[in-house]
Amino acid sequence: MVTEKPQQDTIDSILVEDRRFSPSSQFVENASINNSHHLKILNKLASDDNELFWAKLAHNEIDWHTRFNKALDDSQAPHYRWFDDGTLNISYNCIDRHLIDRANKKAIVFEGERGDKQTLTYRELHLAVSRFANVLKMYGIKRGDRVVLYMPMVPEAVIAMQACARIGAIHSVVFGGFSAKALKNRIEDAAAKAVITADGGYRGGKIIPLKTACDEALSEGCNSVQTVIVLKRTAQDIPMVQDRDIYWDEAIKHVSDDCAPEWVNSEHPLFLLYTSGSTGKPKGIQHSSAGYLLGAIVTMRWVFDANDNDIYWCTADVGWITGHTYVTYGPLALGMTLFMYEGAPTVPDAGRFWKLCQDHKVTVFYTAPTAIRALMKAGDDFPNKYDLSSLRLLGTVGEPINPEAWMWYHRVIGKERCPIVDTWWQTETGANVIAPLPGVVETKPGSCTLPLPGMDVAIVDESGKEIEDADKGGYLVIKKPWPSMLRTIWGDDKRYIETYWQRFNNKYYVAGDSARRDKDGYYWIMGRIDDVLNISGHRLGTMEIESALVANEKVTEAAVVSRPDELTGEAIFAYVVLKGERPTNGIDADLTNELQQWVAKQIGSIAKPKEIRYADNLPKTRSGKIMRRLLRTIACGEEISQDTSTLENEAILEQLQGKQ
Ligand code: PRX
Repeated sequence: MVTEKPQQDTIDSILVEDRRFSPSSQFVENASINNSHHLKILNKLASDDNELFWAKLAHNEIDWHTRFNKALDDSQAPHYRWFDDGTLNISYNCIDRHLIDRANKKAIVFEGERGDKQTLTYRELHLAVSRFANVLKMYGIKRGDRVVLYMPMVPEAVIAMQACARIGAIHSVVFGGFSAKALKNRIEDAAAKAVITADGGYRGGKIIPLKTACDEALSEGCNSVQTVIVLKRTAQDIPMVQDRDIYWDEAIKHVSDDCAPEWVNSEHPLFLLYTSGSTGKPKGIQHSSAGYLLGAIVTMRWVFDANDNDIYWCTADVGWITGHTYVTYGPLALGMTLFMYEGAPTVPDAGRFWKLCQDHKVTVFYTAPTAIRALMKAGDDFPNKYDLSSLRLLGTVGEPINPEAWMWYHRVIGKERCPIVDTWWQTETGANVIAPLPGVVETKPGSCTLPLPGMDVAIVDESGKEIEDADKGGYLVIKKPWPSMLRTIWGDDKRYIETYWQRFNNKYYVAGDSARRDKDGYYWIMGRIDDVLNISGHRLGTMEIESALVANEKVTEAAVVSRPDELTGEAIFAYVVLKGERPTNGIDADLTNELQQWVAKQIGSIAKPKEIRYADNLPKTRSGKIMRRLLRTIACGEEISQDTSTLENEAILEQLQGKQ
């Protein structure tokens, strides 16, 4: 039931924040949390004694090898430790514990872009993970060693992650769309002992040459890597390096079926995941074992209303945090059936996602606003061709969703029957932080609604004072530690503190987003406050792209900003100063193409600037700072309202605006 049903032709009216949507009675009836009293109790328990709240959940939700005595150790704050004296194994919690009553239940259902299918029951998954864990052991990988994964979105990616967890090795998944250079930097930062990759992956009708990129990354430096395990996915001919490379299917021939889980401490690092910051160097976000798992489990229950009959599909790649928490760990920890798809949403046409939902009877579907917008643009005919009646809940993550896309998702995909959970969180938070409990919390298009139980979220001003007024924007902070929070930046405790804590004297975790709260207490994310861009829901540092540009021999200086983009949320706009002459009128399509390809090679395709404008120099203040706000105004084509009189070189404004 919809409280107020906007007409399609008055889509603008939904911008009015008072539009609220209640879940349908059908959804409420079956939801595990379906009365507000239940939520109130959870919130009360959490606010009465936050530590006890998490401790109780941890005792109930995790199968411990040895139980913990103390929930939180804050003696080294802001380095927090959760459930510190407990021991467990994550892969045991995701697989072994289901062997009693779900051994023959499907754990993973997979479909490739070309229609190839694969299914693994929990028993089969257990066997595959155990064998691969033994392969890792055979190659000398031990507890605490780092293993980099550079893989397509196939079940073996999940198997490899779970196998690392089984032996206490720390995985670091690098998104398959990243370049050889980006891969090399991450391998070196983590000093990985092994790399797991594939000959290739299928996407958009093409083969992504993963092994080639991997060889390029390893051709110089990366001295820590001793072994490369290669999954045969595309079966094209690829060179194998003797004494270093081994095919996955060869390796598993020589190992036993049994691999006892390695019991690790709650705080043992489960994985590193590199994410962009405002400086050039990506940060290896380090997550723990028990706290992280707890975050994944409780949010699967609260936000995704997980149940045993669900066919759950999160479209995120394992290269991102969403592909960790809501593909590899959360759903399996709850014994769900996970659906995975390797390819692009538009192959063979923009109906593919909807066909997959129909064919596999997907019940819960979680994706990014970028995908929703792209599929919305392709028209209603695609989804309307398929039977989407199995869907009961829809989710979105990664960037703010515009109300128009929200309404389309609600109407055309969810048929006004499925609640939409807009989930705000980050690589660093490990799990959803602000999101609705769909059976209880009314939703508003564009708002991620309310903080989850146990999450002490606030909005503060420059001085760190809490903003109570409705609709006044400020820094989004989290006031209390929570179990699934990041533990540090790999090898750089100082940067961890500087990035997330120092701004308000180590009192609050600073998310780096700005937000406001409306009169109902609903949160609206306004964007980043640092120099981080959000392109298609993926974070990229401006500095990272600028460094890539200036690494080109033709470029002297570069400044990167973003401007709103209909499809990708934000698009990259680069201002470039060349070593040679500036092209006439600041336009040179060939050079722009060359620099776009260059950036793709340095970082990956997602980092390619959409537009490049050439100028004789960049606008700087007298103290030499690039005036980024001004550049953003120009990129957005807005009227310049900033005071430009302090500019060192006011004359270049015309060039930057493309007028000369
Ligand atoms: O700016 C916020 C945006 O994505 C950032 C986190 O990016 P990443 O670590 O790559 O993780 C993405 C998946 C969790 C946030 O700081 N963001 C994420 N979810 C939302 C969002 N912005 C608005 N609404 C969301 N639901």
